[in-house]
Amino acid sequence: MGRAIVVSGTPGTGKTSVSKLLAKRLDGIHLELSRIVEDEGLWLGRDEERGGTLVVDAEKLADYLRARISGSEDIFIVDTHYGELVPPELVDHVFVLRLEPCTLWKRLEARGWPSSKVRENVEAEILGVCSIEARSVFGEKVCDIDTTGKDAKSVVEEILSILEGLEECGVLDWLEIIGPEALDVLAQGSSCTPAKHRS
Ligand SMILES: Nc1ncnc2c1ncn2[C@@H]1O[C@H](COP(=O)(O)OP(=O)(O)OP(=O)(O)O)[C@@H](O)[C@H]1O
Ligand SMILES: [Mg+2]
Repeated sequence: MGRAIVVSGTPGTGKTSVSKLLAKRLDGIHLELSRIVEDEGLWLGRDEERGGTLVVDAEKLADYLRARISGSEDIFIVDTHYGELVPPELVDHVFVLRLEPCTLWKRLEARGWPSSKVRENVEAEILGVCSIEARSVFGEKVCDIDTTGKDAKSVVEEILSILEGLEECGVLDWLEIIGPEALDVLAQGSSCTPAKHRS
């Protein structure tokens, strides 16, 4: 039976760049869920309050993934903002990519996103929403990876050494690492200064 490694995280943390490279290194298959949802029509409607983004049909997506993954012998690298939608019985590991909040703000702003959308996502990163949600479904299978100051290749090397059992993984909490100043970025916006921290 095929197995899944989930790569999750706030938008802009590097999921797609890392997943593509990880799939190459593991000789696996990269599945970008947002594309699959769109291409296969696995959605219920559009959320007009969120700029018309698609509302995923969680049940159809889970069925699609079960059929695609358990019917195969391959390793699948599942690239998604919604890690918790992947059926847990298929999943061996979940890597949640994390990024220092000010760096994330600047990266999302460079995409030309409105500041309300940048703020919402940076807020989610500060609070660790993806990580908390992943942990509520996958428990100990979840590893937070600090990607700050690292290119996709180094992030993939770190993931590979965790998979080989050479490195431990854990939970990352920006409020603990940076302190309450982690929240300052929400007031400062693009004039913020990236926090220095040990990874
Ligand atoms: N480790 C990195 N260091 C610096 N820049 C990076 C890194 N990884 C990705 N980027 C850049 O950040 C941007 C976001 O990367 P990517 O598209 O992989 O993120 P994502 O998490 O898949 O985003 P989305 O959730 O919107 O799909 C891209 O412009 C990419 O070139
Ligand atoms: Mg992506």
